[in-house]
Amino acid sequence: MNKTVRKAVIAGNWKMNKTPAEAKSLIEEMKPLVADANCDVVLCVPFIDIPAAVEAAKGSNIKIGAENVHFKASGAYTGEISADMLKEAGVEYVVIGHSERRTYFGETDQTVNLRSLAALHAGLKAIICVGETLEQRELGYTETLLKFQTKMALTNVTKEQLQNVIIAYEPVWAIGTGVTATAEQADEGNGYVRAAIAEAYGEDVAESVTIQYGGSMNAGNADELVAKVNVDGGLIGGASLKAPDFAKIVAAASK
Ligand code: 13P
Repeated sequence: MNKTVRKAVIAGNWKMNKTPAEAKSLIEEMKPLVADANCDVVLCVPFIDIPAAVEAAKGSNIKIGAENVHFKASGAYTGEISADMLKEAGVEYVVIGHSERRTYFGETDQTVNLRSLAALHAGLKAIICVGETLEQRELGYTETLLKFQTKMALTNVTKEQLQNVIIAYEPVWAIGTGVTATAEQADEGNGYVRAAIAEAYGEDVAESVTIQYGGSMNAGNADELVAKVNVDGGLIGGASLKAPDFAKIVAAASK
């Protein structure tokens, strides 16, 4: 395992939080705190916040992401947003297949794959989420499920496109619960994802892919998590809504 070939990426996922005005002030507060980061810093924000966020982040090292993208280029899909729309708005990253979308909005492995292909085709970087429920873990299916979700999400994604893919391992039982996976569990889950990529694309390619951990990652546990060989940063929910906490996580990944 060679962690030095991969750059850590710390991405905030604001979920359904912050108005455009609040987004602007939070990013203004974060900018000086993360200016010296030695990792990529991304904030994935609600669609409506994108213009304000892009404007506020201008000239800084903060990149802006969206939280979802539709898989069609245009058409009669009321309420949806296309990859080209995001791109033109200044978005560089997009979260795809978050467990909240899988649970509440009928997202499937197939739609996750289609959205990933659309994002990559438009030149966006895709942060694709995978993760097992507590029940699946207790039944012993974690490895099988993570490998299946990873391979399904990457169907028809080329080796070249894979350079714009980040996988976020987010155990569902650790999201928003305050129950963090242990650093060993995070490393093991990320390792299953990397093994799935190796099976599909070869070891060398798998070594180059950034794999994040997400799920109750915070200022107190980030150090231990990102120190693990397979954990190349994090996808942060709650702690990305507080500038000092987010900055501490960025600092942990910058070491
Ligand atoms: P929390 O950090 O709030 O647990 O959320 C994690 C997450 O879902 C990031 O996408």
